[in-house]
Amino acid sequence: MADSLRLGKSAIQCSPLGLGAMTWGEKAWSTAYGGTGGRADEEAAFKASLKGGVNLFDTAEMYGSGNSERRLGQLAQGSKAVIATKFMPRPPRTSGALPKALDASLKRLQTDSVDLYQIHFPVPWVSIPKLMHRLADAVEARKVRAVGVSNYSEVQMRQAHAVLESRGVPLATNQVQYSLLYRKPESDGVLDACKELGVTILAYMPLAMGALTGKYAIAKPTDRMRTRMTPTFNPAEVKSAALVTESLARIVKTHDATASQVALRWLIQQGVVPIPGAKDGEQAKQNAGALKVKLSVTELAEISALASDWKHIKWPRAPRLSDRD
Ligand SMILES: NC(=O)c1ccc[n+]([C@@H]2O[C@H](COP(=O)([O-])OP(=O)(O)OC[C@H]3O[C@@H](n4cnc5c(N)ncnc54)[C@H](OP(=O)(O)O)[C@@H]3O)[C@@H](O)[C@H]2O)c1
Repeated sequence: MADSLRLGKSAIQCSPLGLGAMTWGEKAWSTAYGGTGGRADEEAAFKASLKGGVNLFDTAEMYGSGNSERRLGQLAQGSKAVIATKFMPRPPRTSGALPKALDASLKRLQTDSVDLYQIHFPVPWVSIPKLMHRLADAVEARKVRAVGVSNYSEVQMRQAHAVLESRGVPLATNQVQYSLLYRKPESDGVLDACKELGVTILAYMPLAMGALTGKYAIAKPTDRMRTRMTPTFNPAEVKSAALVTESLARIVKTHDATASQVALRWLIQQGVVPIPGAKDGEQAKQNAGALKVKLSVTELAEISALASDWKHIKWPRAPRLSDRD
């Protein structure tokens, strides 16, 4: 695996592993399941990532109501970080809200142009073609270097790709939930369509919100917020997740690695770019270590077979294709 890859057919080169900064910035309910320990931990995570060869950082305007973008903007000044952020088409917004939202993101990120600008979710009240034209306009205005989508189904992604292609802009990425414990992209057509169209998958929740680190058990549950948010942390699921990480133990030992590193490496060697969240320097350093692990073809197949029957976590659902707006 090379040290860097191209995001789709765009000009953006970055590490084959990123870091998700959803929990960074001042604590707010929208940081989902608990913020970091504070600014020092975030700085340590940022520096440990760059030192470990990870230069892609993912954020969104909605994370911490803009606080994650602000923090990343401060940390990234003068660095070689590749920044990805997202537009949220929340009601009553239409595609017409994108230019102003992008300007606000750029201001928080302290930059004139962002490396990757993604649409956070497809929603039935916003037209995909109109959104894609807005993205292409942003590329032409040099405010965005590459564009992507997130949580788009195969059909939605093909539509987005076709509109952008008509404007001469490649659809670089589709950011979807994908981990050893959540294999939906393999069966819903997204993985195959990405290969066919030359779109890179950014895998979010690649550690199944921490379950794949092996640190949670029924006797040692996680915070209540995470338990409420996802079935991953229901007792039966935690038990199954623990069985998966236990099954990885031999491979983990062979490579003198950790369960997280093996789980991330399994994605990296498929050409998928995982963006694990990290709350401090230690987590970021350990995750970056996945860049050094090299799994054999036999090991990859063995790991794939381990958890192929997992069908849990129904959230988030992809809305229907829509032309309204
Ligand atoms: N596009 C979307 O709709 C969408 C949705 C969700 C997330 N995302 C993106 O994906 C990124 C990652 O998702 P995620 O943070 O929800 O899930 P994740 O990456 O699967 O899990 C991250 C959490 O696991 C724990 N962890 C990470 N590395 C660890 C290590 N080495 N050792 C021990 N614990 C470790 C940390 O939480 P604790 O320390 O609290 O256990 C961390 O916050 C987000 O930051 C965001 O950028 C996108």
